[in-house]
Order: sequence, then structure tokens, then C-alpha cells
Amino acid sequence: MADLQALKGRFTELYGSENAEPIHVFHAPGRVNLIGEHTDYNGGYVFPAALTFGTTMLIRKREDEQVGFASTNFPLHKHISINNIAFDPADDWMNYPKGIIHEIQKKGLSVGGYDILYSGAIPNGSGLSSSASIEVVTAYGLLTMEGHPADKVQIALMSQKAENEFMGVKCGIMDQFAVAMGKKDHAILLMCDTLEYKHVPFESGAYKLVIGNTNKKRGLVDSAYNERRSQCEQAVKDLQQQFPELTLLGQLNLEQFNAYQHLIPDETVRKRARHVVEEIDRVLQSMKVLEKGDLEAFGQLMIGSHNSLRDLYEVTCLELDVMVEEALKIPGVLGSRMTGAGFGGCTVSLVHEDSVETFIEQVGRVYKEKTGLTADFYVCDIGNGVEQVTEA
Ligand code: GLA
Repeated sequence: MADLQALKGRFTELYGSENAEPIHVFHAPGRVNLIGEHTDYNGGYVFPAALTFGTTMLIRKREDEQVGFASTNFPLHKHISINNIAFDPADDWMNYPKGIIHEIQKKGLSVGGYDILYSGAIPNGSGLSSSASIEVVTAYGLLTMEGHPADKVQIALMSQKAENEFMGVKCGIMDQFAVAMGKKDHAILLMCDTLEYKHVPFESGAYKLVIGNTNKKRGLVDSAYNERRSQCEQAVKDLQQQFPELTLLGQLNLEQFNAYQHLIPDETVRKRARHVVEEIDRVLQSMKVLEKGDLEAFGQLMIGSHNSLRDLYEVTCLELDVMVEEALKIPGVLGSRMTGAGFGGCTVSLVHEDSVETFIEQVGRVYKEKTGLTADFYVCDIGNGVEQVTEA
């Protein structure tokens, strides 16, 4: 969590201290997905966890109908009328909170004027859901300030809608759900079709989750992401010859898929669909092995997931593959995989605490030799979802 006193100082520097209304503080984390990648928009299972770092939002009521947006991460700062909320490319990151205001207004709920300062601890474009984090903290903060119901599942859905419609990114529900609904020391098993979920204690004992940021800028990720989505939709259409009721690949089990995959004529589409069905199966297997405390078996499933994302779904890249390959060479590493949409961003590895230092040094060094890029590593704890921050 950011230094609140310093942030409040920055807030009053930006917005003045004449306004006697109190400054309220909200926080939403980033997320890491442990397994179940590119399954959410296919109505499958995911297994993400909230991080302990994310986006902090300071907010203070205004008398008029303006909303002031500022961030400690970007220079752009301005006031926008709440009666004129529309997407504007020049507003850059501010379009995320604007999308949320737009969603709240669409529900017929009031939003008054506020001054807002964000401070983000999630590296942008790293695949740790900085966008879901700012969306969810804004939705939760504004609804709470206005005295409207702030149900966290509804907030996740509203934030996904803002991202889909206002921002034009066709993401699934995983990121917003994890960021809204996270629980300290627990991962979330979420069925994305029904939104049934369970908080599963993530007890990794002497093993740590280490996130490796490739710092590879993700190019063309939206178009490639949308292309994968259409390929999955194509596979559903092909399989409807046998399963007329099928609407999502997640409704098929592995056995059914194996029996009827020949109905998908296009080889690439067939590979995409195989990844989805097998990945969902890997999430279910993960639950079984984790229940028994078998972290080694879970590590193997993580590796299987990465290989499938590389070979079948084709959303990894040289940087992600090198980082995973090098991670797996370190003794004490049980598993490693890319996390998030892919094409860059981060990996997540399960590393014995005695090996963490070697891991960071060695993987970092070889990664740099092989890619020319400097990686960042975070040894991560699992934190809570969105919440209001009360000061001690
Ligand atoms: C991005 C999207 C999620 C999900 C993942 C891949 O993070 O926002 O909805 O599809 O990619 O699992």
C-alpha cells in the first residue's frame, strides 16, 4: 500500500485544502492467475488470486458536477463534467474511470462531483490487471460514496462491461472478479459461466509464488486476443453438428471433445479448442492435487498449461518461453507458466523459499543475455479484493 500521508499531501497540493469534506481511501489489488488461462470467455474455470499491491484511490466530494482525475503515475490531470462522459482517446487512462461512471449512470444511479487521485503500484501492461484494478476501485469507491449498494460481484460485472463496451476490449470476467472478490491467502476457483466460486486456501508452505515480469511491451494484444475468441466461437459452431445446444467450449468435457474434435475442419481452430478443453481439465485436476497438498503435481499442471499456451493456443512469445525455461532449470522450482493474456507480461513460478534468491539472480541474468531485456521479480503474497482503507 502506498504511503497514505504522502498521497494526502499530493491530493491537497492538486486540489487544495479549502474543501472541508473528508478524503476517503479505497484500494483494489492486481491479480495473478495461477492456472486456467483463456478459459474465462469460454465459460470454463479459472484460478486467480489477488495480489497485495494494486491501485489506491483518494476521493473527496465536491459541490459541483465536475470529476477531477489525477494519478501519481501519469502527468495528465483534468476535470470532466459528469454530464458529459464519453470515450476520448486524448483522455488516455482516464477513460477507465470514465467508463465506470458511464456504467453507473446507465443503471440510473446518481454520481456527484468528486476530486480523485489514483496511485498505481501495478506496472502497466504487465498482465497483472492494472486496468481491472482501476475500474474496480473506482466502481467500489463511487458507489460507496454515493450510498448505493456496492455488491462486489455486481461491481466485477459492471467493470467488465465498461472494459468491453467503453474501452472496446473483449476481455472475460476473470480479472475484474479476482480484483473485486480476492481474499487474503486464498485463490478463487471461479466457474466463469455461472459465476459460482469458492475461496480455496492457497497453502504453499515453504514454496513462494514468484512473478517474473518480462517487461516485454505487449504489441497487438487486443487483436490477437479477439482472434482467439473468434476461433473458439468457430469451434463451437463446428461442434454444434453433434451438440446442437452447445454455446461455449467450457460445456464440453475432455472425453466428448476427443470423440468429436474431427468435426472441426480447421487445424488451428482445433488446436485452440483443445487448449481450452484441456486447460479447464487442468484446473479441475489442480483442485484435486491441491486438496491433497501435492504441490509437485500442481507444478506439473502449471508446466502443462504453459506448454499448451505455447504450442496450441500460441499466445506466448520468446520472452515468456525463455523465462519459463530458465525458471525450470533452478532446483526447487516446482512449476512455472505465463499468466494473463500472454504475448508478453508476466510469468508465475512456484519456488522453494531457499531457492528464491538464486532464482531471481539466475533467471534474471540468463533472461537478459537471451532477450536483451531486464526482468523484474516480485515474491508475492495473496491479498484481499477491493476494500475501503480505514486509517489506524
Ligand atoms: C486477460 C483477460 C481475461 C482472460 C485472460 C486470459 O487477462 O482480461 O479476461 O481472458 O486474459 O486468461
